[in-house]
Amino acid sequence: MQNLLSMKDLTIEDITAILDRAEILKHYGIREMSEKYMISNLFFEPSTRTKMSFEVAERKLGLEVIPFESGFSSVLKGESLYDTLRTLEEIGMDAVVIRHPEERYYEELVGNLNLAIINGGDGSGQHPTQSLLDLFTIKEAFGGFKGLNVLIAGDIVHSRVAKSNADALKKLGANVTFLCPPQWAGEFDSVSEWEGTIETSDVVMLLRVQHERHDGETGFTKEEYHRKYGLTVEREASMKPGSIIMHPAPFNRDVEIAGSLVEGRRSRIFKQVENGVYIRSAILETILKGRELTWRKSLKMPM
Ligand code: CP
Repeated sequence: MQNLLSMKDLTIEDITAILDRAEILKHYGIREMSEKYMISNLFFEPSTRTKMSFEVAERKLGLEVIPFESGFSSVLKGESLYDTLRTLEEIGMDAVVIRHPEERYYEELVGNLNLAIINGGDGSGQHPTQSLLDLFTIKEAFGGFKGLNVLIAGDIVHSRVAKSNADALKKLGANVTFLCPPQWAGEFDSVSEWEGTIETSDVVMLLRVQHERHDGETGFTKEEYHRKYGLTVEREASMKPGSIIMHPAPFNRDVEIAGSLVEGRRSRIFKQVENGVYIRSAILETILKGRELTWRKSLKMPM
């Protein structure tokens, strides 16, 4: 693997290899890589989990993390993303993690640059590293994916997490149902009632109402949304034994999920955050080693 842009690009074998490697890192610890690679995290949208867990993973792997502050960079003077990355490549960066508001921002970059691009989220497009950590968390709970019923509920149309997870979970044999206000379903078929679905779901994955991507109003008060589309305490009581609750976070307490359920017995929300470090370490190792191998092969160097 040379880059990680979209879950659509990954085969079942690619996904399995990353999940297996993350499991080893979780059990035996993350070790420094033998080469000193340079990496920079370019975040053009806010982030706590993705940015910080990448940075922890990078430091544990012994990478040189070169700070990039989008608000103090020459992007503010109008420099394009391509020209920014072309500059970082020339300075000596081996890889970049990018979060950007524009969907598929990476299409104009891959193939034209000699550094690895890891997508940390592109607008409402894809969030592959979140999807992989979600898959890892589901596999920890159930051992696999075939036949699992996964209910994804919330602001589907704006959610890169929903899109990445739908692609990956279907590929892996899970059944995915979407629940949301009909006008928020986007490209997916959806239901708008919890009853009849929640009772048979193994995983209930809530998504944040992305107020910043709704032009002004969502059309619901917080209370209305919670009552109709949120995971209330009463709905949680109808979940089947052994089923789990997930949320990529940040979450709006008492909007898409009752505040008391966030750290309840079914919740894997903070486990997802913990697993993010192992998954991102596995992704970084896979891509950096993959590029090193390709480079050695191209120069006919010993492997
Ligand atoms: N889940 C997630 O992507 O969180 P951040 O926006 O804080 O990175």
